[in-house]
Amino acid sequence: MRGIVLAGGTGSRLWPLTRAVCKQLLPVFDKPMVYYPLTTLIMAGIREILIVTSPDALPAFRHLLGDGSQLGLRLEYAVQPRPEGVAQALLVGESFIGDEPVALILGDNVFHGVGLGEQLSSHTDPKGGRIFAHRVADSREYGVVEFDGDGRALSLEEKPRHPRSPFAIPGLYFYDNQAVEIARAIRPSDRGELEITAVNTEYLRLGQLEVTVLERGVAWLDTGTVQAMAAASEFVRVIEERQGLKIGCVEEAAWRRGFIDDEQLRALAEPLVHSGYGRYLMELLGTRPAR
Ligand code: DAU
Repeated sequence: MRGIVLAGGTGSRLWPLTRAVCKQLLPVFDKPMVYYPLTTLIMAGIREILIVTSPDALPAFRHLLGDGSQLGLRLEYAVQPRPEGVAQALLVGESFIGDEPVALILGDNVFHGVGLGEQLSSHTDPKGGRIFAHRVADSREYGVVEFDGDGRALSLEEKPRHPRSPFAIPGLYFYDNQAVEIARAIRPSDRGELEITAVNTEYLRLGQLEVTVLERGVAWLDTGTVQAMAAASEFVRVIEERQGLKIGCVEEAAWRRGFIDDEQLRALAEPLVHSGYGRYLMELLGTRPAR
């Protein structure tokens, strides 16, 4: 399965923070935001990943992540000239996706929870589309899924004024290879974007959409506003300091997945020892706990 991290956009809801720095490179506590979705893909076992971003931001992402070989990944980069919708990532990534299934993740979505890696790994060869649902207190800002009595998806709506359910759709989508064709056929919404909800709606219409409800033990945080960003940072800080384990640590995830060995992890850790991040990686060496 190929992975795509969508990490463009104007970040206008966070101005002036994002005037000079792309949103997905801003810190969420102790690491750049993009580390979190990248870690999620690594945990799912995905090694071939395309970063889609704006023309201005691309050099910074390349500087941060390179060709990915240091993490046992193959990273490629592609430009989305203008932020014309999440589903456009599938079109920008068309040749990268080729004949494979694809996992698309938004560069500002943070996931954390027990068993998530294992759960996601089981969806890497989907028949149709596999999306997720997560209960939120206010679902109006998201894609929203309505279920029937048997827990099957009935309807999907993007940012409904009067949501039919509290189940928001997180920015993580697993698709078979039809996704590109479906994305090509959809038209821009009233807000002028190629909506990912339109892609999911087409899968639903075809009877090929599976929706997995993420359990309440799984945290899904977004970073759409300065308040949400501060809350995500605080969440990560509290868990990391309490447990002594990091969230969204790409190096650790790649090592635990067996994408890199001890020596490669040591080489990644050494330049980072001054910040404590490298010391954390060093301390992982010699330990082999399952989590
Ligand atoms: O976070 C989950 C939600 O993400 C879903 O529930 C919605 O169904 C989905 O439409 C999306 O909603 P948002 O309105 O929150 O998406 P936003 O426009 O904020 O974009 C999400 C990220 O993707 C953000 O980091 C910017 C980036 N992006 C967005 C667009 C539209 C791009 O890189 N290019 C784009 O064209």
